Amino acid sequence: MPREIISLQAGQAGNQIGSEFWKKLCAEHGIAPNGTLEDWAIQGTSSLSSQSANTLAHMHPPSPTNQVNAAGGTIPSNVGGGSAYTHGAMDRKDGFFYQADDDHYVPRAILIDTEPRVLNNIRTSPFKDLFNPENFYLSKSGGGAGNNWAKGHELGEEGKEELMELINREADGSDSLEGFMLTHSIAGGTGSGLGSYLLERLSDHFPKKLLHTYSVFPGDGDVVVQPYNNLLATKRLVEHADSVIMVDNLALHKLVEDNMELSEASFRQTNQLVSTVMAASTTTLRYPGYMNNDLVGLVSSLIPTPRCHFLMTAYTPFTGDDIEKGKSVRRTTVLDVMRRLLQPKNRLVSTPFSQPSCYMSILNIIQGDVDPTDVHKSLLRIRERQLATFIPWGAASIQVALAKKSPYVQSSHRVSGLMIANHTGIHVRFSRMLREYDQARRIGSYLHQYKQYPMFSKDFSEFDDARQVQEVVAELVDEYKAAEHENYLDYGNGA
Ligand code: GTP
Ligand code: MG
Repeated sequence: MPREIISLQAGQAGNQIGSEFWKKLCAEHGIAPNGTLEDWAIQGTSSLSSQSANTLAHMHPPSPTNQVNAAGGTIPSNVGGGSAYTHGAMDRKDGFFYQADDDHYVPRAILIDTEPRVLNNIRTSPFKDLFNPENFYLSKSGGGAGNNWAKGHELGEEGKEELMELINREADGSDSLEGFMLTHSIAGGTGSGLGSYLLERLSDHFPKKLLHTYSVFPGDGDVVVQPYNNLLATKRLVEHADSVIMVDNLALHKLVEDNMELSEASFRQTNQLVSTVMAASTTTLRYPGYMNNDLVGLVSSLIPTPRCHFLMTAYTPFTGDDIEKGKSVRRTTVLDVMRRLLQPKNRLVSTPFSQPSCYMSILNIIQGDVDPTDVHKSLLRIRERQLATFIPWGAASIQVALAKKSPYVQSSHRVSGLMIANHTGIHVRFSRMLREYDQARRIGSYLHQYKQYPMFSKDFSEFDDARQVQEVVAELVDEYKAAEHENYLDYGNGA
């Protein structure tokens, strides 16, 4: 049975990234821009070649005595790299698409904005017939949220009935809804404010469903009022989302510029990278195998404690397949890929990680022609060289899932890899956000813009309740820092 995921894209960044993601998914599943199956994809769609494997291996931090294998049993440490299981992989579109009466594949996607421009771009693009036209939601006023979280939140409240109706309809059309995937940015008004509103409503209406987000964190000074918007949205990400994949614009721009030798990357180019990461992170759901074939399983293995659910990613190689004219990477062995994934320059997060920050968990999704024994050898090498530092209080590991590349997409490299990791060093990003907020709040810049909205009209209780907002984020920082120490398991018990 499919475990359906409903995708919600809010605001400019959310919709622009979302549409790149759907383009990529269509290409990977042989779906034409109008939703029909391409001729070459009609035959043999059910099963990929016998090489299609979904293999899992775990590596413990340095000097483990045992290793946990994919089935949860232990194997002797002298086996070395971990354990491997192979399993035929299916092309499974139904988690992300449903078939309309005329057999067209339709994304389980709702496209939301408060101004028409980006939605109109999608409606006039070659993919205009892909989406369910009823699933485009534009706020009545159509004037946008003007980079104001409070306005975006209010527009969410205003459109509540229609929005929930759309969401409920999609949910009712699922047999076994797994959860929601929100793409948005946290610096503007719509993705940030209306996105926050959606998170509040969804966690209320669907308490048992996974709320997973791809959240764009801004570069320096993208939006003047971003310190407010960032903090208000982050509070909702802490309290209502189950897992957040941080998409850091600063790191994204740098990655594209370095790879393409450009002085300034466009959103189109950065979004292609994000969509590559999003597609890779969902590949084991779409070509499911023995493990990691549901999103809950995938993220829960990465999140040992509920609040520390901000995940970072790294990807390699970014080549011409992902962005036009990219530099090519000469060797792509499994070890090269796994080693590169641990290098800061391939991370999609700009914070420098320094001691004592460490990994709480790592999942590598490796795609391509891979011999599982290479994975074992690579894990051993990484352990010997101590290339990754893990938490001192638990059995953290590098998990490796092997996933087949789509048979419909040609790529010039043999192996590629995505790392999704939970790293304590991410607190640096939130500390910076708190500093920026404090600074803006001290001089009171632009606060009047928020005053016209009910939540802020009497006083700034939402902000200074948003002192409470600050506290939520400060506590997150504290918890990540605490996770760097041996006695973390006593955190919250007065330790
Ligand atoms: P309003 O326009 O204020 O109603 O909200 P919005 O949600 O539409 O705003 P937007 O998504 O433009 O948020 C601004 C933030 O998103 C800034 O940090 C931008 O740099 C970033 N951003 C905007 N578009 C894109 C995009 O296509 N890709 C990426 N990666 N970031 C984007
Ligand atoms: Mg906008």
